[in-house]
Amino acid sequence: MADLEARAVTKRFGGVLALDGVDFEADAGEVHALIGENGAGKSTFIKILTGAVRPDEGEVVLFGEPLAARSPRDAASHGVAAVFQELSLVPDLTVAENVWFRRERLTPLGTISRRRVRRDTRALFGRLDFPPLDPDIEVRSLSVAERQLVEVAKAVAGDPRVLILDEATSALSPKEVSWLLDLARRLAAGGMIVVYISHRLAEVREVASRITVFRNGHSVGVTEGAAASEDEIVSMMLGRRLERLYPDKEATATEAVALRVRDLRFGHRLRGIDLDLREGEILGVGGLQGQGQLELFLSLFGVLRARGTIELDGRPVKISSPRAALAAGIGLALVPEDRQNQGLLLPKSVRENVTLAVTKRFSRRGLLDLERERALVGDAIRQLSIVLSSPEQPVGSLSGGNQQKVVISKLLLTRAKVLLLYDLTRGVDVGTKGEIFQLMRNLAREGYAILFFSTDLQELIHVADRVAVISDGSVTGLLEGEAITEDRILRASVAGGTAA
Ligand SMILES: Nc1ncnc2c1ncn2[C@@H]1O[C@H](COP(=O)(O)OP(=O)(O)OP(=O)(O)O)[C@@H](O)[C@H]1O
Ligand SMILES: [Mg+2]
Repeated sequence: MADLEARAVTKRFGGVLALDGVDFEADAGEVHALIGENGAGKSTFIKILTGAVRPDEGEVVLFGEPLAARSPRDAASHGVAAVFQELSLVPDLTVAENVWFRRERLTPLGTISRRRVRRDTRALFGRLDFPPLDPDIEVRSLSVAERQLVEVAKAVAGDPRVLILDEATSALSPKEVSWLLDLARRLAAGGMIVVYISHRLAEVREVASRITVFRNGHSVGVTEGAAASEDEIVSMMLGRRLERLYPDKEATATEAVALRVRDLRFGHRLRGIDLDLREGEILGVGGLQGQGQLELFLSLFGVLRARGTIELDGRPVKISSPRAALAAGIGLALVPEDRQNQGLLLPKSVRENVTLAVTKRFSRRGLLDLERERALVGDAIRQLSIVLSSPEQPVGSLSGGNQQKVVISKLLLTRAKVLLLYDLTRGVDVGTKGEIFQLMRNLAREGYAILFFSTDLQELIHVADRVAVISDGSVTGLLEGEAITEDRILRASVAGGTAA
């Protein structure tokens, strides 16, 4: 019998069968990956392990004893801890206080011993070889990546027997990711069961000794991590071979400059950015994280008021607000690092979210043409293969990746000609990624101009027609054609302000 065993676990949400008799096994000492398409049921399964969701049928056995966690706290007391992509920290408390939250470190008088909390945090950080982070600063002042790291520390602080990482690396820099993978391996080697969920197959194959694949609420197989090729794993996930992830590049870029940016400045974050984005072009934006890429996108969309000139089709425009940007024909799809904030109204239906910005288009004399709206939403759902039971379902009940697709549909409906796509494929499964890249290609062919930021080097290399590398608020390299290589992008990334 395996150390952690789930048998015939079934879970329905209304009409949605999220898990259909799932079996799962993992042993102490291994990092066990759990992968599957968006909506396959991974997070639901994890929520059952952690007591956030009750199964309709089936059981979970941990070290020979039934585990029927009634709440995350209950699960924690049985040694099950999880890090989710949605963050759970208290912003007003310090890093150290968050790490020991509800694991009181009391003085003899019964008050919380700050000294003890601080000392224990230092010790824990030392033991985990934690990236440098001041235990005394308030969580509110941390970046999303840093918060994610604190979540990990908090989960590990209780010395769990099972540690679950559900897309915990999505906001992290490559360096932090490799630290976390290393930590996962070390903890497993120390006897923990580590369950690792990610859409990044390279990470999964690097860290996992075994991989369980979920498809459509079923467990469809288990493979040895290193033994299976990426192709084989993807085929198991999708139930078919993925012909290709990246569509062929096409020379659809014209000479016409759709968006011209000159000397764009914002505080010390943007130090004079120059860019020409042509019609029919996919221009990639690369560089290390936090070099001004986000500020560039937000400035172009009127969220930040940057100085400099912006021209659309050769005409200078003032982009003083997102409304002004949309009116000028610039649309932004931003997947913020914190998914709960991605500009979707989670309790509202998919239909309402998709058409939120464009209701005008099918209202006549204040009345909505519901039929047209429904048709439009239906098209959007088909175009991006959004998995749902009904367009009337709240967006919040879709799986993470499918929520992301709703963000894209929203953008496409605005009919903006300049599309700003910021980290759009994060948390999206490979099959859907391929669909998104194909969609981008089609849009470029139709004459859209696409500015595309990704933290994934391979995406930039295989999808973008040209790549602008940004370092310290300036463009330090502009690569085209054969020159778009990992090596060149990385070199320009650390060029630090010297012109390329
Ligand atoms: N509270 C809920 N109400 C209704 N349906 C739900 C709810 N939670 C999950 N679902 C549905 O259950 C299915 C499985 O969702 P789940 O979040 O487990 O997928 P996932 O494998 O984690 O996907 P992703 O990779 O996108 O995170 C999806 O179809 C989802 O829409
Ligand atoms: Mg999930």
